[in-house]
Amino acid sequence: MRLVLVGPPGAGKGTQAQYIASNLSIPKISTGDIFRANVSGGTELGKLAKEYMDRGDLVPDEVTIAMVRDRLSEDDAQDGFLLDGFPRNVPQAEILKKMLAEFGVVLDIVLELVVDEDEVVRRLAGRRTCSQCGRIWHVDFDDKKDDICDACGGSLYQRDDDKEETVRRRLEVYQEQTAPLITFYADEEILVGVDAAGPVEEVTHRAMEALAPYIG
Ligand code: AP5
Repeated sequence: MRLVLVGPPGAGKGTQAQYIASNLSIPKISTGDIFRANVSGGTELGKLAKEYMDRGDLVPDEVTIAMVRDRLSEDDAQDGFLLDGFPRNVPQAEILKKMLAEFGVVLDIVLELVVDEDEVVRRLAGRRTCSQCGRIWHVDFDDKKDDICDACGGSLYQRDDDKEETVRRRLEVYQEQTAPLITFYADEEILVGVDAAGPVEEVTHRAMEALAPYIG
């Protein structure tokens, strides 16, 4: 299964990606997670990416595409993968298509997580991420009163780009640059929409139902 998750910031892509990838036994490849790991590791890539991420803008295509090409060339991605956060605009989607053709494969499905903007803002305002295992929590929906990850005991942090002003910019960037992917993949006839409102488990259930016809 070669699958892409698309949807606005806060739609629940990272949350659903962890369950879907584990259900399908495929690696979850999140460009946002790779950038954040580079930022905390202080690498050159991290320094460059941080400038864009802190503003809520996209990291330049050439940097992102080279990073994804390297990751998709790794052994664990040869039999399938779930891409979370890539592609992010039509040029990235076109390059991904060419890249996969070079590898002799195609995308099976693009799942669009559909949720309204008020809910997205609510979800981002309360998001906390584990600094150790990367698991995503929410202060209200998960009733997190402390800043400790229940999964591994690591400490939770709030992402720098979840500040109100940056969130607003990320939503604008989504509408301008990422939303056109919906038409792109609808034209390719591989787009499936999933209602992403409601509890996490219900959304996962809907997503797995949508994927069922594609699972061999
Ligand atoms: P990235 O990390 O990809 O961020 P994003 O797309 O803005 O998405 P988010 O991670 O904010 O949200 P999500 O949909 O994963 O929601 P989550 O599951 O966490 O990118 C960050 C930056 O990196 C970009 O701005 C850009 O600069 C750069 N970048 C990344 N990819 C790039 C690319 N391809 N090209 C160029 N630049 C790139 O959920 C949010 C919260 O809601 C959590 O607290 C969660 O617990 C909660 N929640 C989730 N689902 C539910 C539910 N059903 N009910 C209640 N709460 C829920």
